[in-house]
Amino acid sequence: MMKVREVQDEIIRLKKERGICVAAHSYQAREIIEAADFTGDSYQLSVMAARAPQNTIVMCGVKFMAETVKILSPEKTVLLANPTAGCPMADQIDKELVLAVKETNPGYTVAAYINTTADLKTVCDVCVTSSSAVKIISKLPGNEILFVPDSNLGAWVARQVPNKKIKLLQGGCPVHENVNAKDVQAMRTACPDALLLVHPECTAEVSALADFVGSTTAIMEYAEKSGHRDFVIGTEMSIVENLQYKCPDKRFYPLTKELICPDMKLTTLADVLNCVRGDGGEEIVLDEETIKAARVCIDKMIELGE
Ligand code: 13P
Ligand code: SF4
Repeated sequence: MMKVREVQDEIIRLKKERGICVAAHSYQAREIIEAADFTGDSYQLSVMAARAPQNTIVMCGVKFMAETVKILSPEKTVLLANPTAGCPMADQIDKELVLAVKETNPGYTVAAYINTTADLKTVCDVCVTSSSAVKIISKLPGNEILFVPDSNLGAWVARQVPNKKIKLLQGGCPVHENVNAKDVQAMRTACPDALLLVHPECTAEVSALADFVGSTTAIMEYAEKSGHRDFVIGTEMSIVENLQYKCPDKRFYPLTKELICPDMKLTTLADVLNCVRGDGGEEIVLDEETIKAARVCIDKMIELGE
């Protein structure tokens, strides 16, 4: 049986030989991140994959991330490393619901979290990620915004951009939504000297108790730059592990043991190896019309997010 290091070396060799780029979301396992060309949050991944010189992109993450890459680079072959990795939140709201709400609220600008399907993006005006949402929403010319699907992220943005009227629908991340104020109290007691850093997909009661709220990248940057030693991390567990590697002199603890995204955990190093061997993953296929319509809101995100 091949050792982890040998599998990683084989992936790196095949990537070079076949002109393949491997992109990994920061929630991926350490061994995948080490073999990837770049790692980042959903915003960074979409921009970096579009700029990559290779003609084939292997996305280690969930389906909407691979779809976003395909929309931005339709000429490239885009593979989702594990075909079963989806984001349950992305499937919570469909196009028909957004069209119906738009009809009764005609003046509203529809802002979609990037965690949505390509199909839903075709009826949205602008896309946002957790790292770019506040900046983008505050730059929008319209004052009435329909924000879908994450009501927690939407409410967090609304608190920071009070001059905009933000309408929310019911939706949220089942992983982050599960954390509550009792979990915060328990960790404050267990780690009294630690700073609490949470993702805006957490509920308002959790965000209100945190020392810092930000995207995966913002959380990592905050912890790396901080003079503090101990941190409790309120986002997917892998950020705890990745931060611990980056900052060996600091200490990182998960806010709860349940902060695990089962979909993000589906991709294995073997999946990545199979993809670069040409024998695995799911090729993302989107029709021209969907790509053209969905691209409008992603281009707007890049224009306003830069
Ligand atoms: P980021 O936009 O911070 O990468 O988060 C993506 C995600 O799926 C969080 O649950
Ligand atoms: Fe989707 Fe939540 Fe998993 Fe992120 S953590 S991919 S939002 S289910």
